[in-house]
Amino acid sequence: MPLRPADLTRRKQAGLPITLLTAWDALSAAVVAGAGVDAVLVGDSLAMVVLGHATTLPVTLEEMLHHCRAAGRGLAAAAPHDPPLLICDLPFLSYQCGADEAVAAAGRVLKETPAVAVKLEGAEPETLAVIDRMVRSGIPVMGHLGLTPQSVHQLGYRRQAGDPVSQERLRRRALALQEAGCFALVIEHVPAELASVLSAALVIPVIGIGAGDGCDGQVRVTADLLGLSSRQPPFSPPLIQGRALAVKVLGRWVRQQGPAAAPSPAPATRPASPAAPHC
Ligand code: KIV
Repeated sequence: MPLRPADLTRRKQAGLPITLLTAWDALSAAVVAGAGVDAVLVGDSLAMVVLGHATTLPVTLEEMLHHCRAAGRGLAAAAPHDPPLLICDLPFLSYQCGADEAVAAAGRVLKETPAVAVKLEGAEPETLAVIDRMVRSGIPVMGHLGLTPQSVHQLGYRRQAGDPVSQERLRRRALALQEAGCFALVIEHVPAELASVLSAALVIPVIGIGAGDGCDGQVRVTADLLGLSSRQPPFSPPLIQGRALAVKVLGRWVRQQGPAAAPSPAPATRPASPAAPHC
């Protein structure tokens, strides 16, 4: 049976840890499905990880839809009977310009890709109103607080909620997201004690990254875990040095092909055609 968003709360109630990994195409989705992950996030981190942007801000809704469809094909091929839950990030400015536009953007994710839920960042009053509209329209929504990369020009990539006032603010925002109908909450780069307290306080699962071991689940950017990212976040260390390993083995293959041939000069005149074979 495919996992549904509400099943994550049942997993939390049963004390089962929840695992989420990102994917950006069919290849990466098949790999993380093969690893047996519970849910796959087509995160807007793909803007940096695979599209080479400096932040997540430039990625468009069209690009997210394109990558999500590819990830969906990878999951269908790798885990046709028991696919992980597929969630797609709503990119910057697809949900901040009014509730109608936001619901339409989230609706496109559900209509045009195999994703069954969207994720969005923040808990401003307008964002809470948008989440309420989406949930009442039948669109499952995952929240995201703490380090929210779409606000990089205000928050940077620093650890968030370091003092009691901002911790209390974050706690209130997390409760507001639950109240608005989010089925789960990602919490990024905050003190571990705060993340544990939140996990205990909320009914919905709290999925941490750079937030300690006391969360109901963990999410990681797959390229970070594999050591493929060009900019490795300090709170998400690699499991292997994938980039260095790939360069090494591919370099060995290149060298096995012999010394690089000097480019041959272009012929001045067209060479005579070889004689046509007799048939
Ligand atoms: O875009 C992303 O990959 C994310 C994860 C860091 C949770 O939002």
